[in-house]
Amino acid sequence: MKAWLLLVAAFLLWPGCSSQKACEEPDEIDFGEIVSAEKAKYLENDRVQYRCNPSYVLEGPEWIQCNGQKWTPHPPKCLAPCSITRQQLTRKNLFVFGNQRKAQFIQSDHSLQFQCNEGYVLVVPSVRKCVDGYMDLPLCISERGKNCSGPPRTENGDITTLSEKQYRSGSSVEFRCQTYYAIGGQNRSFCNNGTWTKVPICLDPCMIPRTELESQKIEVKDEIGAPENIFVQHGHSIELACRTGYVLAANSSKSAFVIHCDGTPPVFPKCKEITCNSPRISNGTFRPQRTIYHDGDLIRIQCDSGFTFDPDNGEKVVECTKNGWSPPPKCIKITCQADYIENGNVLSPKITYKEGERIRFSCNEGYSHVDRQDALCTETGWGTKLQCEEIKCFPPEVTNGYLQYRRDHYMYNDEIETICNEGFVFGGPGKVSKCTATGWHPPPVCKQNGCDYIRIENGRMADRFEWYKPFPLWQGQSIEFYCYRGYLPKDKQRWQTARCINSRYDPEPKCFKICDPAQHFYYGHIIYNYYNTYIEGDNVTFVCDMGYSPSTQQSSITCTKKGWSPAPRCIRPVEHTCTKVFLSHGNFGSQQQSFQINAKAKYICHDGYTTSKGETEAETQCLKEGWSPEPECINLSKANEQ
Ligand SMILES: *[C@@H]1O[C@H](CO)[C@@H](O)[C@H](O)[C@H]1NC(C)=O
Ligand SMILES: *[C@@H]1O[C@H](CO)[C@@H](O)[C@H](O)[C@H]1NC(C)=O
Ligand SMILES: *[C@@H]1O[C@H](CO)[C@@H](O)[C@H](O)[C@H]1NC(C)=O
Ligand SMILES: *[C@@H]1O[C@H](CO)[C@@H](O)[C@H](O)[C@H]1NC(C)=O
Ligand SMILES: *[C@@H]1O[C@H](CO)[C@@H](O)[C@H](O)[C@H]1NC(C)=O
Ligand SMILES: *[C@@H]1O[C@H](CO)[C@@H](O)[C@H](O)[C@H]1NC(C)=O
Ligand SMILES: *[C@@H]1O[C@H](CO)[C@@H](O)[C@H](O)[C@H]1NC(C)=O
Repeated sequence: MKAWLLLVAAFLLWPGCSSQKACEEPDEIDFGEIVSAEKAKYLENDRVQYRCNPSYVLEGPEWIQCNGQKWTPHPPKCLAPCSITRQQLTRKNLFVFGNQRKAQFIQSDHSLQFQCNEGYVLVVPSVRKCVDGYMDLPLCISERGKNCSGPPRTENGDITTLSEKQYRSGSSVEFRCQTYYAIGGQNRSFCNNGTWTKVPICLDPCMIPRTELESQKIEVKDEIGAPENIFVQHGHSIELACRTGYVLAANSSKSAFVIHCDGTPPVFPKCKEITCNSPRISNGTFRPQRTIYHDGDLIRIQCDSGFTFDPDNGEKVVECTKNGWSPPPKCIKITCQADYIENGNVLSPKITYKEGERIRFSCNEGYSHVDRQDALCTETGWGTKLQCEEIKCFPPEVTNGYLQYRRDHYMYNDEIETICNEGFVFGGPGKVSKCTATGWHPPPVCKQNGCDYIRIENGRMADRFEWYKPFPLWQGQSIEFYCYRGYLPKDKQRWQTARCINSRYDPEPKCFKICDPAQHFYYGHIIYNYYNTYIEGDNVTFVCDMGYSPSTQQSSITCTKKGWSPAPRCIRPVEHTCTKVFLSHGNFGSQQQSFQINAKAKYICHDGYTTSKGETEAETQCLKEGWSPEPECINLSKANEQ
């Protein structure tokens, strides 16, 4: 019995049981149904889908959602189609455009165009729309009906068509409303068997008196001085705004609003002046002191000592705006300050810091940060020390070696020399380590004499070394390696040997990028060397064609990882000069690249080559047409043939 009671109590207290159902069943709709799966309970964020019966048109959302125990948005409607019978058409002397007189069936929001029987006039418009099962069919007026006398009048409107004494049945007159008046209904009236069809009416405009705008502190937006009253056509709108310095009383962050003319006299929202009260500032004062401030008024804030203006924008000035004082004037306690750091420099240009702000500072040469390179301002001051201390190094303990001269401590840039025991070598180049901000550099360590396995960038060791890994190598042992395509070792041979000497490979097993010696560029070429191969670090010269010279001072270029640098380029010099030509079998005597008009230059042919005159050494002169005679070094035996 007791257990049963407990069970009931637990059930009643069960929190989710009743509140788990968030929404009632969604509403059914006419001529449509819910197509999403039906549920016993609808929970928050559940969605339901509607669909209309065939030929009914959905108006509104297809899906609705359970939000805050309500279905949003409202369920849709299903709009009925229109059906027009043949009898209806016959009775009204109507045809569907294209001379059809058959029953018609059209969906809501779709249109049909009509025409009348011969001898009948259609009362415009001829195109009519189906609106939820209802369509207003046009009237066809018989031209055989009785004449109409003088046309009807409409107030504040005029007839635009010619005025006649008598109007035949089916004829019409057109109306226009006077300025500011909007037309209500069709602008044409038809004579129908002695009487006129409905005459349009001219709807009164809304008049906005200038005096009222002025008294209410309202102005027309974007208006350029018009002193008269304002008229707004029926159905039209006008954008108005509170005058500068005023905002909407209902929403002080807005000043513009729209008035729509719908036949009722316009009601204006209230505008109120932008004002700010004298601010209350704890731990500070301000100037000037007034009881009330207006839009754009400025005050200067002076914080008590130990406090600072927030935000610290330097100006310490706040402005009265529609949203109140901007920025809000506040004096906050200075919790952290940094004006001077001994043996260091503050990197941020500020003296006072708020809680949560961070300062960065550097230390002078020979000094290092006691804590970190930055410090956080906390409630109780800087979180870490804002201090620089002199860099000191202590004598290291060297395993398998010792220091040449040992001292208690060392200062910045002091040097120590490490002597390694037999069979061991120093870990870095040389033997000397320097005291730096990060300690001894290179680290004073002695490592076992020998060379470790080394990964070669853009190349690879001979397979037997890669596979059997005989590392570390002893003094005098060597490896062989080669470079991948596009790279070569220092000696430009495909295979190279590197010997282990004092724990270092000699030469260093490195692969260097090859630069293209035949690289094309205009008006010049690169001089080939014996191997016709250039690698990173090689310098070569290039020569320019006759009449061109290097774009830079020197014609020497260097092979780098990214190719030739600078890129070889030959340009035509402004003044006519001659450039050194490249002789395949000879050399110009001068280092000069370009020669002035009339300048003379000597050249020497290599052994076995001469000029066509048989000279091994010759002179040539720079003329307007170029070098004369043309420098040449030809095969001696060929020269003799000539
Ligand atoms: C015009 O109206 C008269 C009655 O006022 C009617 O007898 C006559 O049939 C109508 N004529 C036409 C063409 O509708
Ligand atoms: C009807 O008016 C027309 C001119 O608009 C005139 O020619 C015709 O005679 C009039 N018919 C009758 C029956 O008055
Ligand atoms: C009368 O209405 C028609 C169609 O709505 C329009 O084309 C025409 O310009 C209007 N006439 C005048 C004078 O406004
Ligand atoms: C005031 O106008 C702003 C801007 O249009 C709008 O975002 C805000 O929601 C409005 N506030 C009130 C209370 O109507
Ligand atoms: C700062 O202002 C607060 C609140 O007005 C006040 O309690 C406090 O005594 C002031 N401190 C100083 C140092 O004036
Ligand atoms: C190559 O030229 C550069 C720049 O002129 C120079 O610094 C470098 O020492 C030269 N290298 C060689 C190997 O001559
Ligand atoms: C010069 O030409 C001859 C015959 O054409 C050739 O045998 C000789 O090797 C050439 N000499 C040089 C230095 O190229």
